[in-house]
Amino acid sequence: MRASEVHQGKRQRVTQIVRFEQLSEGQRDAAAAILVRAFANLSPSWRTLPEARDEVGTFFEDEDRSALAAVDGDEVVGWIGLIRTYSHAFELHPIAVEPDRQRQGVGAALVRALEALALSEGALTLYLGADDEFGGTTLFGVDPFPDLLTSLARIKAHSGGHPLGFYLKLGFKLAGLVPDANGAGKPDILLAKHLANARPRVGAAHPALRTFYVC
Ligand SMILES: CC(C)(COP(=O)(O)OP(=O)(O)OC[C@H]1O[C@@H](n2cnc3c(N)ncnc32)[C@H](O)[C@@H]1OP(=O)(O)O)[C@@H](O)C(=O)NCCC(=O)NCCS
Repeated sequence: MRASEVHQGKRQRVTQIVRFEQLSEGQRDAAAAILVRAFANLSPSWRTLPEARDEVGTFFEDEDRSALAAVDGDEVVGWIGLIRTYSHAFELHPIAVEPDRQRQGVGAALVRALEALALSEGALTLYLGADDEFGGTTLFGVDPFPDLLTSLARIKAHSGGHPLGFYLKLGFKLAGLVPDANGAGKPDILLAKHLANARPRVGAAHPALRTFYVC
């Protein structure tokens, strides 16, 4: 089913998770635009549409990369990338959900689908770096040396959009810290998840979201 439906008096969204290869040219552009909007206040990486189009393009051109999109009807509402960095540990990079569709279960559905894809290819670990370039966590602007692991263990996210809490909710664990990765006091926070128990759970992401994995 692709159309939205009325469920218990509320509009219930039906979201498909599809491989990037299934997207039209217009939908690829929409994925690039989501990257710009979702990261507008978080990172200078994708300030412009051409920069974001280049990033999207790498997931079509590089055989070590794959991506999945969340699509409502014909509308792309978010996407997630996979980079095959090691033989058995793959990187999640990037993930972006359309700002007005955040906190509705789309991000969790994308991560679950990516976990299933990585697991199906033999990966044991999924990991990522969650940069703090804007003061989203207690590690921003501080010197985490000399005891990096103690500093990391004490990390907390401030309210305001850093995705640390999102990843912890989805079962990722703090795995490391790259101090000053993006300039003085702007660390990259590493998180990892063991994939052995990962299973796609259709419809479990959010009460208002039904998700179909078609990839
Ligand atoms: C991070 C992001 C992908 C999350 O997607 P989303 O669709 O909003 O997340 P979901 O609605 O699926 O959230 C799943 C759970 O995580 C929680 N969550 C989501 N974002 C959170 C945050 N920033 N902090 C704490 N918890 C968060 C949700 O409340 C939900 O919890 P619940 O299951 O108890 O209801 C999205 O906010 C986004 O695109 N952000 C901008 C780009 C970004 O930061 N990318 C990651 C860079 S490393």
